[in-house]
Amino acid sequence: MAGRGQLSFVKMWVVAVAAAIAGHAPDSAAQSAKTGTGADDDLRAVYATSADIADGKRVAETACARCHGLNGVSATKGIPHLAAQRPAFLHLQLLAYRQSARVQNAMDGVVRFLSDDALYKVAAYFGSLEPPRPAAASPGKPAPPKPNPLQAGKAAAAACSGCHGEGGISTTPGMPNLVGLDPKYFAAAMQAYKSGERKNDLMQPAAAGVSEADAAGMALYFALQKPAPAKTPSAGDKAAGKKAASSCGACHGDQGVSGNPATPSLAGQDAEYQEAALKAYKQGARKSDSMKAPAAALDDKTVRNLAAFYAAQQPQAPNVRRPLTLAQWVERCDRCHGVNGNSTDPRMPRLAAQSEEWLDKVLRAYQTGTRKSTAMAAMSSLMSEADVKELAAYYARQTARSVIYVVLPPRK
Ligand code: HEC
Ligand code: HEC
Ligand code: HEC
Ligand code: HEC
Repeated sequence: MAGRGQLSFVKMWVVAVAAAIAGHAPDSAAQSAKTGTGADDDLRAVYATSADIADGKRVAETACARCHGLNGVSATKGIPHLAAQRPAFLHLQLLAYRQSARVQNAMDGVVRFLSDDALYKVAAYFGSLEPPRPAAASPGKPAPPKPNPLQAGKAAAAACSGCHGEGGISTTPGMPNLVGLDPKYFAAAMQAYKSGERKNDLMQPAAAGVSEADAAGMALYFALQKPAPAKTPSAGDKAAGKKAASSCGACHGDQGVSGNPATPSLAGQDAEYQEAALKAYKQGARKSDSMKAPAAALDDKTVRNLAAFYAAQQPQAPNVRRPLTLAQWVERCDRCHGVNGNSTDPRMPRLAAQSEEWLDKVLRAYQTGTRKSTAMAAMSSLMSEADVKELAAYYARQTARSVIYVVLPPRK
C-alpha cells in the first residue's frame, strides 16, 4: 500500500465494505479502523490507493460518465450526483442494484457486468471527487415560506362556524360537531358532498367551493382542537340507549370513540343530527353498506335513545400528529444524515448539494415503497407533499463537505 502515506487528511477516506470484497482489505491495521456505527461486524475499512482511484476513473469513463458525468455531477434531471458521495454508500447501492435488491433498468444493465473489483474502485473514484456545488437559492427574494396547513385550515374553517359552531363544537340542534372527526373521514365526507354522492341542501353548497388542500387543512384543524360534546339538548333515554348500543360498539367503539378512521366517532355528537343520519340510512337517502342493516332494525324511539346515549359520551381526539416545521424535520433527518445533510456514517448518503429533482423523486419512491428502506419508509410516510418539496429544496442548497473522521486513540 505504497500510496497511503501520500493521502492528505482531507483526501483520506475510508471505504467500509462487506465481506464480499475482503480481498481488498489491505492489512490488520486498516481492518481495525471501525466505521463508527459498530452495527455490523463484517464491515471493515479499506483504504483505496491512488492507483485504485485511477482504475475506477477508467470504469467511470466507459460505463457511467454518460449519465452521471465524469466529474460525478449529473446534467440530467432525475439522475443523482455521485461526486464526493460517501463511497461505502455508493458501493452498497451498486451491490444492491446487482443483486436486484434495488431495481432500476438503467442501472441494472450497467452494473450486472462489472466485477466486485470494478464496483469497489468506481465507488472509490466517485467518492474522491470534489463535491457538487449547492443549488443556488432562487434569485431575488427567498421562496415564500410553506403555508402552514394548520393556520390555513383554521382560516378556512371560519366559514363553517355559523352552522357548525366555533372550533367545530355545535350549538345548533341538527348540526354535527366537526371537532374530533378523523381527518380521513372528514375528507371523505367533503368529497362525498362535492360529488353529490352524499346529498344535503345546506352542506352541498358549503362544500362546493372548497379545494382539496383547504379540506385537508380544515380536517387537521378540527382534529387537533380539544374535543368537547355538542352544546345541544337531547330528548332520549340514555340508559335505554346504552342497552341498544351493544350492537354498535364493534364498529363505533364501546363509548362511541371509534378506532377506525373510516368509521366516525359518535361520542359527544349532536343528538338530532344522529337521529337524522340513522333515519336517512334506514330510508336509503344516505347510502352506506355498513349502516344499512344496523339502521334498518331501529324504530324511532330506539333511534332517539341511541342518539341521547352517544351524545352524552366524552369525545376523544383522534390520533393525529401536529405537522412539523422544516427546522423540526431537518433536526430529525440530520440525526442519521449528518449536520446539514453531511453524513459522517460512511453508509449514510450525503444529502447536501444533491440534485433537488433527485431528492424529490427518491423521497416519493420511499413513500410509495418502490425503493425499499425500513428507516426511510418510516420517515417518508409522515411527510406531506409540501414537506417533500421543502426538504428536497433545503438539502439541495446546503454546502457539501468532505467527511472528517475523528480517530480516537486507544483507551489505556
Ligand atoms: C443509462 C444511464 C446510467 C448509467 C450508464 C449509469 N447510471 Fe447510475 N443511475 C442512473 C439512474 C437513472 C439512477 C437512479 C436510479 C434509481 O432511481 O434507483 C442511478 C443511480 C445510481 C446510484 C444510486 C445513487 C443514489 O444516490 O442512490 C449509484 C451509486 C450509481 N447510479 C452508480 C453508477 C455507476 C458507478 C455507474 C457506472 C458503472 C452508473 N451508475 C451508470 C443512470 C445511470
Ligand atoms: C349552512 C349551514 C352549513 C354550513 C355553512 C356548513 N355546513 Fe357542514 N353540515 C351542515 C349540515 C346540515 C350537515 C349534515 C348534513 C347531512 O346530514 O349529511 C353538515 C355536515 C358536515 C359534515 C359531515 C359530518 C359527519 O359527521 O358526517 C362535514 C365534514 C361538514 N359538514 C363540514 C363543513 C365544513 C368544512 C364547512 C365549511 C367550509 C361546513 N360544513 C359548512 C351544515 C353546514
Ligand atoms: C359494521 C360496522 C357498523 C355498525 C355495526 C354500525 N355502524 Fe354506524 N357507521 C358505520 C360506518 C362505516 C359509518 C360511516 C358511513 C358513511 O360514510 O356514511 C357509520 C355512520 C354512522 C352514523 C353517522 C355518523 C356521522 O357522523 O355522520 C351514525 C349516527 C351511526 N353510524 C350510528 C350507528 C348506530 C346507532 C349503530 C348501532 C345500532 C351503528 N351505527 C352500527 C359503521 C357501523
Ligand atoms: C434512522 C435513520 C434515518 C433518518 C432519521 C433519515 N434517514 Fe434518510 N436514509 C437513511 C438510510 C439508511 C438511507 C439509505 C437507504 C437505502 O439504501 O435506500 C437513507 C436514504 C435517504 C435518501 C436517498 C439518498 C440517495 O441519494 O439515494 C434521501 C433523499 C433521504 N434519506 C432523505 C432523508 C430525509 C429528508 C430525512 C428526514 C426527513 C431522512 N432521510 C431521515 C436513514 C435515515
